[in-house]
Amino acid sequence: MMENVPRTQRFYTMSTATNTFEKVKAVILSAHKSSSLGEKVNFYNSWAENYDQDVAVLEYRAPSLAANSISSHFSGDREAAVMLDVACGTGLVAKQMKTHGFGHFVGVDGSEAMLEIARESGLYQDLKQALLGEDPLPVQWVDSFDVVVIIGALSEGQVQVCVVRELCKSTKPGGYVCMTTRANQENLEYKGALELELKQMEEDGLWSCVEVTNVQDWERAVSEKGDGYIPGAVYLYKKLPHVAQ
Ligand SMILES: C[S@@+](CC[C@H](N)C(=O)[O-])C[C@H]1O[C@@H](n2cnc3c(N)ncnc32)[C@H](O)[C@@H]1O
Repeated sequence: MMENVPRTQRFYTMSTATNTFEKVKAVILSAHKSSSLGEKVNFYNSWAENYDQDVAVLEYRAPSLAANSISSHFSGDREAAVMLDVACGTGLVAKQMKTHGFGHFVGVDGSEAMLEIARESGLYQDLKQALLGEDPLPVQWVDSFDVVVIIGALSEGQVQVCVVRELCKSTKPGGYVCMTTRANQENLEYKGALELELKQMEEDGLWSCVEVTNVQDWERAVSEKGDGYIPGAVYLYKKLPHVAQ
C-alpha cells in the first residue's frame, strides 16, 4: 500500500506516530536487542523514514559538532575538497559540512533504506552499500579523500574499532579524519578500545592528533537507568605523509 503514497507524506504520517521523546526512546531501546550486525542494519532500515525527526528529538548534535571541529582546522579549498562520509546514514553530516562551504561528498552505509534517503538529499556524488568490518573499502580509495568522517557509528554492535585504520588509508596524506563516540556507561569499554587504537596509530606514524573535544551534553540519554544528557567525544586526526622505505 505504501508504494502509492509519496515518500514525504509517508514520512509525515509515520513521524507523527513516533515523534515524542518517550516513543523515540522506546525505538532506540528496541535496537539494543539487536545482537548481530545484520539485525542492527535491519533496525536502521526500519528506522530510516523517521531517523532525522527522531534524532532531532534526542538533540543529537554529533554531525554539527564534528563539522565545527573539521571546519575550524581545514585550510584548503573547501569547494574542491572531497569528503568520504562513512556510515553516512540519511546524510546529516554532509548537510552540516555544506553549511561550512564543502561541496563534494561520497557516502557509504550498510543500510539500503538510510542510503535511499541520503540519495534523495541530492548531496552525494556517489553512495555505496557496504558492511564495514566485513566489506573492505574499495582499494581505489586509498589516499583519495581530503576529509574522512565517521559520525554516530563507532560503538558496540555497529562499526568495529579496527575499521579506523581503513578510514586512515582512504585519506590523502595531509587530510583529516574525524570520528565521534559516546561516553555513556554502556559504551565506555568500546571507547577505551577506540582510544587505544587511535594512540597506537599515532605511534605507528600514521597520523597525528589535532584535537579531542569532550562534550557533556552530547545527546539526551535513552538508557533505562539514566536521564538527562550523555557525554560524547569528537576526535580529529591529520594523516601524515608516507615515509619513504
Ligand atoms: C546513528 S546512525 C549515524 C548516521 C550519520 N552518520 C549521522 O550522524 O546521522 C549510524 C549509521 O551507521 C550505519 N552502520 C552501523 N554499523 C554499520 C556497519 N558495520 N557497516 C555499515 N554501516 C553501519 C547504520 O546503517 C546507520 O546508518
